[in-house]
Amino acid sequence: MKRTKIKAVLDMANPPGEVFVQGWVRTKRDAKDFSFIELNDGSCLANIQVIAGNDLAKYRKVEKLTTGSAASVTGQLVASPGKGQKWEIQATAVDVISIASENYPLQKKRHTDEFLRSIAHLRPRTNKYGAAFRIRSRMAQAIHAFYLDKGFYYLHSPLITGSDCEGAGEMFRVTGLDPADVQKQGRMDFSRDFFGQEANLTVSGQLSAEMFALALGDVYTFSPTFRAENSNTRRHAAEFWMLEPEMAFCDLDGDMDHAEELVKYLVRHAMDHCREDLDLFMRFVDKNLGPQLETLVSKPFARLPYTDAVEILKKCGRTFEYPVEYGIDLQSEHERFLAEEHFKTPVFLTDYPRQIKPFYMRMNDDGQTVAAMDLLVPGIGELIGGSQREERLSVLEARMDEIGLDKDPYWWYLDSRRFGTVPHAGFGMGFERFLMMLTGISNIRDVIAFPRTPGSIDF
Ligand code: 4AD
Ligand code: MG
Repeated sequence: MKRTKIKAVLDMANPPGEVFVQGWVRTKRDAKDFSFIELNDGSCLANIQVIAGNDLAKYRKVEKLTTGSAASVTGQLVASPGKGQKWEIQATAVDVISIASENYPLQKKRHTDEFLRSIAHLRPRTNKYGAAFRIRSRMAQAIHAFYLDKGFYYLHSPLITGSDCEGAGEMFRVTGLDPADVQKQGRMDFSRDFFGQEANLTVSGQLSAEMFALALGDVYTFSPTFRAENSNTRRHAAEFWMLEPEMAFCDLDGDMDHAEELVKYLVRHAMDHCREDLDLFMRFVDKNLGPQLETLVSKPFARLPYTDAVEILKKCGRTFEYPVEYGIDLQSEHERFLAEEHFKTPVFLTDYPRQIKPFYMRMNDDGQTVAAMDLLVPGIGELIGGSQREERLSVLEARMDEIGLDKDPYWWYLDSRRFGTVPHAGFGMGFERFLMMLTGISNIRDVIAFPRTPGSIDF
């Protein structure tokens, strides 16, 4: 008989009679003549209850099933008398696939997130992490669905690169050659060990995306990105996924409209397609999550210039750990105050002082600020960072000179401003930060399968 996934079994409108399922035992309770087995196969949050009577041929073995063991079950699907669940299985055969040792760490009790991080290879078997990673998968697929529908092309930008898009010097060096080989070849410069050139893991696919937007029109990259910032915070990881749309013939307003549409689409998509998993987070992780997501999809996001935000922060009467003045890079405490307490919605800050933003952002007419935007959201702070790009060759070159950036390695980037340059804009959204906002999970380590943060490289 063909295996049916438990999700499909539980979704059935009418019982087909006999079904065949396979999964792992979450709990087993023994009564006098029966065992009740809660079986889960990862296809959904819910378990299916299996009733195994002691008249079964292999009942002796069934009695030995421990939490975490794997089993195959054939049986009749019947209406469940218990509340909450529609169907249960009256087993006609139970085959033990494997018995989990008694020291299986995931016994039925609440475990702390810290403990579960230390067994990241097992935590997707818990309700919370199973739900988180099913949602993560669905949201990645939703991103592609959104862009397919809009006629964007999906660009695979390189992960190994010679350039530093953000100019923040936060790149991991790629050390491809064995130092012994480098010496043998008579080259002593270890920094140039990508076949004789310097190479890094990318911090952003933006510069590649710009080249393709100026060819294919609308494109996006969605891939791993790497930051060597040694900051042990709950919202920074050394390896994370970033979504980066880039659009030709688009200005800063168009960029923000697009970002708002995207975020709302993804949240609605989760509400429609991940209901059961999302409910778990609304009930057990953050009681405010439901109303917060409702507000997010129904209300327009606020938009205001950086300068006005600084005024709000200065006058709000709150003492921040990091004092506010014009020109500072806003900290997470400032960003969260604006989104959570002042506006109570996500908020776009625009037109930042050029000194705190990268070289590629378009200079505003005031000569001081650039056409940048950051989207700040409750619970997280910065979710998105983007801008209209400087498409004017002479202004771009002057800006690179001003910050002392060597133009030679960017000859190809500057070419795009020589040959058919047009206004264009884009942004980057941290995928993990989006998932944190969506689930209320407060630590980035808990939305990444095997997080890469200082000190965690084992799994
Ligand atoms: O603001 P960032 O640095 O912008 C860029 O890299 C641009 N080149 C994007 C673009 O315009 N195409 O990063 C974008 C987003 C941030 O808003 C944040 O959500 C996320 O990436 N991010 C991180 N997420 C997790 N861990 C880190 N260390 C992150 N650094 C940035
Ligand atoms: Mg940023």
